[in-house]
Amino acid sequence: MESQELDKRGRWGSKVVFIFAAAGSAIGLGNIWRFPMMVGLNGGAIFVLVNILAIILIGFTVMLAAFAMGRHTKKNPVGAYNAIKPRSPWKLAGYMGVFGSACILSFYGVVAGWALGYFYKTIGGVFKGDITWQSSDAIFSSFAGRPLEIIFCLFVIIGLTTFVISKGVRAGIERWSKILMPVLFGLIILLAIRAVTLPGAATGLSYYLKPDFSKFNMTVLFFAVGQAFFSLSLGLGTMITYASYLPKSDNLVSSAGWVCFFDSLIAILAGIIIFPTLFATPGITPDKFEASGGLMFQVFPIIISKIPGGYFFGILFFFLILVAALTSTISMLEVPVAYFVDERNWSRKKAALLVGLFCFFLGLPSGLSHGGVDIFTKWNFMKNMDLLFSNIVLALGALIIAIFVGYVWRVKNALKEISFGNPRFKLKPLWVFNIKFLAPVVIIIILIFIRTFAG
Ligand code: TRP
Repeated sequence: MESQELDKRGRWGSKVVFIFAAAGSAIGLGNIWRFPMMVGLNGGAIFVLVNILAIILIGFTVMLAAFAMGRHTKKNPVGAYNAIKPRSPWKLAGYMGVFGSACILSFYGVVAGWALGYFYKTIGGVFKGDITWQSSDAIFSSFAGRPLEIIFCLFVIIGLTTFVISKGVRAGIERWSKILMPVLFGLIILLAIRAVTLPGAATGLSYYLKPDFSKFNMTVLFFAVGQAFFSLSLGLGTMITYASYLPKSDNLVSSAGWVCFFDSLIAILAGIIIFPTLFATPGITPDKFEASGGLMFQVFPIIISKIPGGYFFGILFFFLILVAALTSTISMLEVPVAYFVDERNWSRKKAALLVGLFCFFLGLPSGLSHGGVDIFTKWNFMKNMDLLFSNIVLALGALIIAIFVGYVWRVKNALKEISFGNPRFKLKPLWVFNIKFLAPVVIIIILIFIRTFAG
């Protein structure tokens, strides 16, 4: 019975493959582009520390809840809430996930498009020779402000994402994640080694790793928790949907643990490349990033210009970032597509195509908000989309799933689902405490605090 249902909807090839796919969703521009940017804007090491605590205590907790819901119901987020609590408003949280995933994809696709642009620029030799902060910044600004190129790159990214998703779970998502993620990991380590051996690297490392506790405040907490959800792909039903293709024999606890571990590792390593390079380069400070739309694009060319064989490594590196971004964009598109396939009986192809088109058009104002079109630039369109969806909507989604699993579905039923594939769950009391109390309380506090941003 179970096996038949999985056969019909699709399923993962093995436990390892599921971890790779879920980690592939989690690991992406959130780690390499967004995480260091957030560190730079929020006081350095203190942000790193709070973010890690948020991942361990809240991110892991919510991820396990999402896995349990997904595997138990074998449905997209709308179907999952509906299966557990039929005919109730809870399924609105599912709709928020379906819509929110498409919205995040719209601006995330733009940044992935920048990575595509940097990939072919590197091939074209743009980053050869001595790259300074100024030259790197100028290259980025002129590229991000060119409407046609940006639209073209966005189109390619959304097009590839749509293509992969229309092929389904096995043939599409799996194949990508399996080979390329380990290569990305190896390359990041290599670049990190080069970064820490640059002259002046120590200042950068201490900024990045030695917390200054006096810099802690509610803003740091707000963005650190938001970054944890963003980076782990939580709050919009991605992990519910991915876990819906899992058999009962899978150990949800260890899978969630591995995904959180790999995701944090890549983010930490990305910072180890960025901050030493940055402090070793004249003319730039960490808080400059936001103004320029993202540091990855300005700092990586500098380090690439400083390593032997940099031309070759640069090409490989931007290619892999592109792959990391694509394994995340496909997970975003998968949520609305699974909804239309499960609940509306659309074919996978039709759903992928229509939702993909929607995301492309919605992405245009974000793409054109870095100098391409004045009005979108003035509105700071992309930054505000990111603030609204990545921080507020995600936190709200995570709050709802915590309360839903803790009090509506009830921990005892969630624990029963978790026990398949893992009869002895040692962290059980901690998880129960975190899902029922810690996660909701922290999220409510940060959501209340949003008013200080809005006003
Ligand atoms: N976690 C991904 C990253 O770090 C982005 C991502 C994929 C995401 N799916 C998501 C973020 C769902 C929020 C919600 O790049």
